[in-house]
Formats: sequence, C-alpha cells, structure tokens
Amino acid sequence: MPTLQVAEASNAAFSPTYIPIAVFAGGTSGVGQAMAEAFARQTNGLAHIILIGRNAEVAQTILASFPKPAPSEGDGWAHEFVQCEATSMKAVRAVCAALRTRLERINFLVLTASGPKANSMVECGETPEGLDNHLAMRYTSPELDTSTSRVTCTQKSYSPLLARAREYGQPAHVMTILGAGLGFKIPSDDLGLAAARAGTVKMLQGAVISTAAMKGMMRGAAYNDGLVAWFAAQHPDIAFTHIYPGQVATAGKLFYPGWLLTPLAWIVGYLRHVIPQDECAQYMLHALLDAEHGVFIRDNHGDVLSSHVFPPDHQARFADDSRVGFLDGVPMKGYGGSDATVAGLIDYTERALSTI
Ligand SMILES: NC(=O)c1ccc[n+]([C@@H]2O[C@H](COP(=O)([O-])OP(=O)(O)OC[C@H]3O[C@@H](n4cnc5c(N)ncnc54)[C@H](OP(=O)(O)O)[C@@H]3O)[C@@H](O)[C@H]2O)c1
Repeated sequence: MPTLQVAEASNAAFSPTYIPIAVFAGGTSGVGQAMAEAFARQTNGLAHIILIGRNAEVAQTILASFPKPAPSEGDGWAHEFVQCEATSMKAVRAVCAALRTRLERINFLVLTASGPKANSMVECGETPEGLDNHLAMRYTSPELDTSTSRVTCTQKSYSPLLARAREYGQPAHVMTILGAGLGFKIPSDDLGLAAARAGTVKMLQGAVISTAAMKGMMRGAAYNDGLVAWFAAQHPDIAFTHIYPGQVATAGKLFYPGWLLTPLAWIVGYLRHVIPQDECAQYMLHALLDAEHGVFIRDNHGDVLSSHVFPPDHQARFADDSRVGFLDGVPMKGYGGSDATVAGLIDYTERALSTI
C-alpha cells in the first residue's frame, strides 16, 4: 500500500513530453474535481483538461483556478467545461459525438459522476429513457465507455480517440471510480432491475431502505467490473481500471437511507475513516498514471487487487465460463464477474441502449 507521500512523489514524476488530454466526467465536484485540479497543477496547466458535469458556474471557478502556462511554454493546452446530463444516454451520446469530431485523441478518461439518486438507498425509479436511475448514472453512460453513463461514453465515442493516443505511443487509460473490490456480483437475471423495482413496497417509500435501490447501488459497482473487463478485451492496447475511492469527504460521501434512518448514516459516517478529496485524488491519480494496458481492479490506495492483459489478437469471448471471479480463465481478486455473466451483461446493455 503506498503512503500518501509515495503516491504524491510518484505523481510528481509525471512529466509528459506531449500535451496530455484528460476528460473528467464528474469533474465539477468531489474526487473528480480534486483529480482534475491535481492534474492541472502537476502539468502546470500545460494540458487539455475537460470537465464534464451540469454546473457551469462551479466549473468556471474550478477552471479559473488552474495554472496557466506562459506563451513560451508552448501551446495546444486548453481548460474547458462541457455540460451534460449524465443520466440521459442521448445527451451523453451527443457530447461524445461532439468531442469525437474535435479532439484528436484522449489520454485519460475518468468517470466519477454520482449524485443523490445514484446513492439513494430509499428511492428507485426510471429515467425518462427507461433506464434504472442508479444504473443510468453508475453504469450505462460510457459512450465515454460502458456504465449506463459510463458504458455509453467509452463504447463508440471515445474508443477511437483512446486508440489514437496509443498509436502515438502515449498512454490511454479509462478509469471508473465506484466500488471495485467490494464483493458485489454480476447476476444473470433482471439486469435492468425492472422486476426489483416492480416488487418494491411503496408503503413508507422515502423513509426506509428499498431493496431495489440497494440492488441498484450494488449492481452499479458489480457492472463496472464487467464494463472494464469487456472493454479491455475489445481494446487490449488500452488500460481500463475500476477503482474504489474509499470513504471521501465529498458531497456524495453520504449514502441516503431515508429520513427514518438518517441518524444511522451520521453515526456510520462518523465511525468510518473519511479522508479529504484532495488526499483521495492523489491515490486515484497515482493509479491513473500507472497502467499501460489491460484491466485493473484497484482499491482505495490504488493498489492492484487483480489485473489481466489480453493478448493483442484476443477475440473477446465471454461465453461459457461461469466461475465467479475468473476472467479469461484467470482468477481475479475482487472481481465480481464471470465470463458468462459479463457476456449476459453486455448483451443486456446493448439491447437496452439500442432502444434509446
Ligand atoms: N465519496 C465517497 O465516500 C464515495 C464512496 C464510495 C464510492 N464513491 C464513488 O466515487 C465516485 C466519486 O464520488 P464523489 O463523492 O466524488 O462524487 P460527487 O462529489 O457526488 O460527484 C458528483 C459529480 O457528479 C456530477 N453529476 C452529478 N449528477 C450528475 C448528472 N445528473 N449529470 C452529470 N453530472 C452529474 C456532478 O456534477 P454537477 O454537479 O456539475 O452536475 C459532480 O461533478 C462516484 O462514482 C461515487 O459513487 C464515493
């Protein structure tokens, strides 16, 4: 486990000979903001940094705080905000398509968007596009890659840009920050949680924990394992990481158990070891800068719980192996998928996204 000083020292050694292009989806607060700020400081602003979120005012304040390189230090740098409602796959696709037309490449894509609906242990529901509220934010929007928001981003729009970075001999790394290594499994049925939502007891909804909401939270974490595994198989030359940030003092730090149990959340929050977002960002950045290619499951200090590199000629074959915790025949610590359940998840995801 690296200490904070080790992580900071390793980050301080990052001195690219190219202008890195880094996208932080969820970069307007919390861990994503702190990572973007640390990245800007480390590059002395000589980077193309894109914050994605909804709050333009906050974004402009963050961007204004970044160091600005002198003209003699070179050009090609930019610090910008792109507005996007991440639970809408149509909106995510539009943003990704626009970025694809004007960006030459992407070196780092960090997915951290979160929010009260995604963290609610009480409320479950559907987005206007018919996706589960929790999964839309935590999984599906990856046309930046594969979570409902995370899947949509990565899949079509960003892959060519990441691939181009590799063609230039530069790093290309997608990092989704959620719940790696927490032991949640990818199931084989009710992947969109429609049955779970239908079975939710409406009485006292908003006051007590809902099983469908709990499932939404846990599934999001598990599905992100499947997401990084599947993308790594499709793109063996690119790095894909699912990482757990630990308990971090951000707006999203509290889970939402409903008013009846809110005092319990306060007690749990008090008892847990909660670290500042700047400290978490150093560990996350350390992991972001420390991967060449393959799939990585990492803990809150950036330590690799497990990893796998697919051979370059690997044709993704998620099929029959139903052993949970195995990927491509390799045991993976902290990994919640099996090849069979990841295949089922991707099949479900492609079908769900094809109707939007
Ligand atoms: N903090 C913790 O203790 C903790 C623990 C375990 C896991 N995690 C996970 O780690 C990641 C980062 O957590 P965090 O605490 O830093 O999150 P956070 O502070 O809640 O981050 C919120 C970010 O998500 C964006 N966002 C929220 N709703 C959005 C929407 N509908 N559309 C677009 N963007 C939206 C926000 O931007 P706008 O406000 O501009 O919309 C902001 O940039 C999340 O995946 C979280 O689930 C956190």
